[in-house]
Amino acid sequence: MIDVDKIKRDFPILSIKINGKPFVYLDNAATSQKPTQVIGSIVEYYSKYNANVHRGIYRISEKATEEYIKSKEKTAKFINAGGIENIVYTRNTTEAINTVALSWGGENIKKGDHILITDMEHHSNIVPWLLLARKNGAIVDYVKLDRNNEKLDIQSLKENLEKEPKIVSVTHASNVLGVINDVKYITGEAHKHNAIVMVDGAQSVPHMKVDVKKINCEFFAFSAHKMLGPTGIGVLYGKTDVLNAMNPLFGGGDMIRTVTRNSYTWNSLPWKFEAGTPNIEGGIALGVAIDYLNKIGIENIDAHEQELTKYALNKLSGIKDIELFGPTDIKVKTGVISFGIKGVHPHDVSQIFDDEGIAIRAGHHCAMPLVTEVLHKGAVSRISFYLYNDKKDIDIAINAINKVKRIFKI
Ligand SMILES: Cc1ncc(COP(=O)(O)O)c(C=O)c1O
Repeated sequence: MIDVDKIKRDFPILSIKINGKPFVYLDNAATSQKPTQVIGSIVEYYSKYNANVHRGIYRISEKATEEYIKSKEKTAKFINAGGIENIVYTRNTTEAINTVALSWGGENIKKGDHILITDMEHHSNIVPWLLLARKNGAIVDYVKLDRNNEKLDIQSLKENLEKEPKIVSVTHASNVLGVINDVKYITGEAHKHNAIVMVDGAQSVPHMKVDVKKINCEFFAFSAHKMLGPTGIGVLYGKTDVLNAMNPLFGGGDMIRTVTRNSYTWNSLPWKFEAGTPNIEGGIALGVAIDYLNKIGIENIDAHEQELTKYALNKLSGIKDIELFGPTDIKVKTGVISFGIKGVHPHDVSQIFDDEGIAIRAGHHCAMPLVTEVLHKGAVSRISFYLYNDKKDIDIAINAINKVKRIFKI
């Protein structure tokens, strides 16, 4: 059990008022709020040791470098990567996937090659592959969902793997359905067909124990801002041999060892992929966010969110005219619940929630193929939980749904 009241006190934004009402934040799948420890680490960096990394032979530059490297060590440990050579910092998940598509894909995917993704991907795991395919004549295939549109259809996965794709890129957890994909199994199947695997962990790493060695994927991506860290910093994990064989996307300072007028040699991993001055304070603050998650315990956070999800699903399924998307089995679901209220546009739902002080998401959730082509909706509403949410937050959301129904007379 985690002490939510104590946790809430660490998040200054949770004590603001919206429309004169206590703020309830239920849009955690979009981004998380930040504790004072993370905010403080950014202030501390700028007020006490602001200097560039890897360059200065003076104390505060050495301290900045040390803290930046320490953050990579914490990140590596958090997902059970081998070491910091496997941890490339990017701006976000999107940049990490684009890096793989452009660098690895640019070199290894040729005209007529297949790229396999799924029908539940976020745009950031669709568009980079479409861009690549448009450029080099590759073909993007999609694993379909099962009959209930709840999880991936294993038959469809197997059929698509018969086309011998060069890469399989799949989300670990859907930001719309909340379903957790068995990425260890998918990786095993993909490897039988000599495909490499990229996992989009934007919705998994903040909420559950992730072990990249167990998954055995070649690449794994996630964003700090969804796990209590700041915006502008993300992670690309890569297996050492794959990263060593891959060319960097950007050239510049820090990513080289030597440069002559006509040649260069690269720096070692992971620096080869981090050209220019990095997001130093973002990296350091990500390390502090990981400390915070470790202090509470990621397994405890997972169990807490499962409890909230069970509670919310139970309440929601008792309300007439509510349509739920995604599985209801909490063993394969994160704290993400998408729903519709029959006859009401999700934007209206979101606006009424906002009047009640509640932040939720409404729209296509950057997963248009899933929402419009599979679920056949223009938009859906979504509530999503994190460690600072409690059952009271859900009760307030349920009251807001009843208010929507009263206003729209349904
Ligand atoms: C499943 C999934 N993948 C990728 C992303 C993109 O993350 P970012 O915007 O931090 O790059 C998101 C963000 O919502 C997501 O939910």
